[in-house]
This record gives sequence, C-alpha cells and structure tokens, in this order.
Amino acid sequence: MKKSFPNIRMRRLRANNPIRNLVRENNLFKYDLIQPIFIIDGKNKIEKITSMPNIYRMSIDIAIKEIKALHKIGLQGVALFPCISERNKDNNGSESYNADGLMQKAISHIKKAVKDIAIISDVALDPYTKHGQDGILDSKKNIVNDETIEILVKQALSHAEAGADIVAPSDMMDGRIKAIRSSLEKNSFFDTKILSYAVKYSSNFYGPFRDAVKSSKNIGTANKDTYQMDYGNESESIREVELDLSEGADIIMVKPGMPYLDIIKKINDQFNVPIFAYQVSGEYAMIKAVSQKNWLDEKKIVMESLLSMKRAGANAILTYFAKDVLAWLK
Ligand code: PBG
Repeated sequence: MKKSFPNIRMRRLRANNPIRNLVRENNLFKYDLIQPIFIIDGKNKIEKITSMPNIYRMSIDIAIKEIKALHKIGLQGVALFPCISERNKDNNGSESYNADGLMQKAISHIKKAVKDIAIISDVALDPYTKHGQDGILDSKKNIVNDETIEILVKQALSHAEAGADIVAPSDMMDGRIKAIRSSLEKNSFFDTKILSYAVKYSSNFYGPFRDAVKSSKNIGTANKDTYQMDYGNESESIREVELDLSEGADIIMVKPGMPYLDIIKKINDQFNVPIFAYQVSGEYAMIKAVSQKNWLDEKKIVMESLLSMKRAGANAILTYFAKDVLAWLK
C-alpha cells in the first residue's frame, strides 16, 4: 500500500475558484473606498493633471455629477481638496476659513445635491499659503505650531458649518485635534467626526498631489520634515495615535499606504479604532506609469495593492482608483 504522504496538503484549499473564494481571509468590498476629488472655481470646468492620468480638477457642478454617478455604484465617501488661484493665497492661509471659500461652497453644494455620502474635508493650509507649507512661518521661516492651530480651528469649524461629515486635519501640528474637538463641541457640532492624519510621513510620494493643488512651485525645494514623520520611525507612530485619540480623534489615517503596511498592521494590533489608509498620488502615478507601458496589468495590481492595505488592517482606503475599482466590482 502506498504511504499516505503528506498528511496535510496546503494545495487542497487552493485547488479551484470556489474553494479559494470560500477560504479567503480578506476581501476588497465596494464600501471600503473613498475617492479624493480636486475642486476648482468656476462652472463646467475640468482640467487634466499631467502627473495623475485620468484624475481631474473639477468645478463644483462637474464634481457633483461625478459624485452622484459614483454614489450610484457604491461610493460611500469623498475626500475634498481645493485648488485655489494664486491671488487668493497669502502667508497665513487666511482664505482657508472664508465662509464663502471654494471648499466651503463645495461642501455645502455637494451636501445638498448628494444624499447619503460622507464628505471628508481636508484641514491644512498648504493649498492656501504662498510658501506651500501646512503651517505659518515666523521671521526665521520656522513653522509655528500654536499660531497655526488657531487658523486650523477656524478652518475646521467653517467646514463643519458648511456641512462636512468628517474634518480631516492633514497638517501634523501638535495639539490640533484637541483644539479642533473643543471648538466643535463648543459650537454644538457634536457629531462631526475627526479623521486625524495621525501617522503621516514626510514622504516623497506626494509630488503629483502638490501638482494637483498647485502648491509645488510654492513649496519649491523646501520640505515638511519638521512636522511630518521621519520615515525611519515606527514606534513613534504609536505615540502619535495615542495622543490624537486622547485628544478626541474618531478615525486614524496612515499615509502613504503600500510603503507603510507595517505601520497599519502595528496600529491595528494595538488600538481598537477605525484606520483609514491613503494610497497617495505617487503610488497612483507609479501604477499608472507601469500600466501605460504594459509592464504590469493595471487592474490586477490595483486590486492587489488595495487588498494588501485591507489585510494590514485598514477599514477603508482613500485611493484615486476608487472610481475604477467601483466600476470593476460592479
Ligand atoms: C497636505 C496634503 C498632502 C496630501 C494630502 N494632504 C500633501 C502634503 O502633505 O504635502 C497628499 C496626498 C497625496 O499625495 O495623494 N496637507
């Protein structure tokens, strides 16, 4: 008689599609996706972004059409980013809290036009400052923390007033979650959620985004190393999350996505809190570039890269591919 060897064959559970589908541990679901949208002033306007093929800056009316169509196929959330004209920028980003500003108008119009979608608004000064930094500068060009927070609080409040469901501070100043939370409470915005970019690395993958919001020239050769995290650090991410949760954050963002799966996993292991991951503009641009050369299959690597973030522990993912993935999942 033939020896019964081996006892366990791992390949049994990989034998065919139904078996693989039944034993799969993680899946990508249409409700996992958030589409970032770049907003510009005007009517019926749409602009290409060279470093982000198939992503556009859109006027509010066009954005509403796009969001309605995506909502029909399952989109649950949009993350809004403004691209304002150079003449509205100053050193203090004061346009950021203009009640009639582009973001505030976008939030309130989208809120009115599309029922049942979460509007996530970016809270940071970089699209509004002449120098392209997320904070304001002193005479020695240091980014001053506490003075910046005063502006961020006004900005976040103006977004809540316009109807934002989730305000998302992406600036990495210290103590801003506490200040924003207490101002929301004071103004009776008890249900406005704070998605804190608690773990945001000073990454080289943000370049195309800075083209999209037209802050590349403003920041020039400067960098954001004095406030965004050093990408050599891991444990520091735990301190950042602990702090922001204690200050009143509801959801934690880890950014970028694929180069930081270890960080998503670590935070998921240590905290009971929803985690969003951001597949950032540079990750998008890389996948687009290899796909255009036909060196990799776009659809397949997009699905694999997004599932890797789910597997690491992300509850939802901000990705410029959301619109494509929703169409593919249909
Ligand atoms: C700025 C902000 C950035 C991104 C989101 N909010 C860029 C930066 O910090 O320079 C990057 C998103 C992306 O690259 O897709 N507050």
